[in-house]
Amino acid sequence: MISVVVGTRPEIIKMGPIIFQLQKRQLDFNLVHTAQHYDVELSSIFFDDLGLPSPDHVLDIGSGSQGEQTGEALIRLEKTFVDCSPGVVLVEGDTNTVLAGALAAAKLGIDVGHIEAGLRSHDLRMPEEHNRRLTDHLSSYLFAPTKVAEGNLKKENVWGRIWITGNTVIDACLTFMKTAEEKSAILDRVEFDKFCLVTAHRKENVDDPKVLSDFVEIFCRCPVPVVYPIHPRTVKMLKTYDLYGKLSESENVQLLPPIGYLDFLRLMGDCEFILTDSGGIQEEATSPNTRKKVFVLRISTERPEAVEAGYAQVVGTSAKDVLDAVTRFVDEGETPSGPSPYGDGKAAERIVDLLGDV
Ligand code: UD1
Ligand code: UDP
Repeated sequence: MISVVVGTRPEIIKMGPIIFQLQKRQLDFNLVHTAQHYDVELSSIFFDDLGLPSPDHVLDIGSGSQGEQTGEALIRLEKTFVDCSPGVVLVEGDTNTVLAGALAAAKLGIDVGHIEAGLRSHDLRMPEEHNRRLTDHLSSYLFAPTKVAEGNLKKENVWGRIWITGNTVIDACLTFMKTAEEKSAILDRVEFDKFCLVTAHRKENVDDPKVLSDFVEIFCRCPVPVVYPIHPRTVKMLKTYDLYGKLSESENVQLLPPIGYLDFLRLMGDCEFILTDSGGIQEEATSPNTRKKVFVLRISTERPEAVEAGYAQVVGTSAKDVLDAVTRFVDEGETPSGPSPYGDGKAAERIVDLLGDV
């Protein structure tokens, strides 16, 4: 039996295509949700939008400090794996849920399969960088999305077997864009004719008052008005640093609550360009049915392939640098159009094929 572990929004989206493949082949699996993300807009909306089965186990770990959250997930995942005795545990990405899932399984002698293995930002301020490195070294099966990711794993001499598979987020994007175009009414709610899509939630950005205040300036002065579905961590930090009023009152900014996948795909499809510190959105911007320039509001990226392909540009976090780069693009930039470096939309098929062979 395979245990599929998820905990946050991007894990649900990126595990979706894996779950569909497991269902299609009638393989024995269960779905374990730590509920690191628990609000409807960060969790159950994605089960509904993607048509995923309800989780078999919901562990209610919720929010907390890094150690608390990871520790709580470790304790509860270990109990769950002892009860259901999986042969393989699958985790996806780099969250605290992922590290806890990998560690709990490895300590029980259960093989770990890491989907999206081998990404490296080399920025040790990021909890995600610790999580992904440690998970890679705990895993028996490493599903690297690209050759760059495979190279990172080889350089570190990981123990497990490595395959290059593409990223399942392209599978999700290709599968759901048409449904999004048919079902989502989000564009009726957008207040601007032309807009740029914004997301920002990274801990090392939004928990830092200087960076957060630069972000507010960027969004208020962006040369194309901004539509911003806002993550609860960011709302909390904007309120803590007394910046929420300035952002929400700006005529250049439309704030939305976090939105479901179909609505988000529709906004990605229709925007002029994207400003984000998200990981997954850098990948989705390269999908053949999205193809958007994406300005990465960070000082590093673990997705250098998107930069190489001309989609992503790492612009840092200072208001001046970001606004200069965006203005240059608006004046004379071209939206990229090359193939996605993250695969052909068949990553999940490949991964589940490989799992059948091991
Ligand atoms: C987590 C992941 C990050 C991923 C992101 C996806 C880690 C270390 N971070 O960051 O890699 O990019 O998810 O969105 O695992 N909150 C709510 N409702 C919820 C969940 C969270 O209000 O359902 C608020 C709480 O105030 C919480 C804060 O958001 O303290 C941060 O949540 P948490 O899960 O710790 O980290 P994210 O910033 O969401
Ligand atoms: N996303 C969404 N609604 C939103 C914001 C993002 O559906 O309001 C999707 C987005 O399409 C991508 C994923 O969530 O697939 C990215 O999640 P996030 O940026 O929170 O995490 P990261 O990828 O940085 O870990």
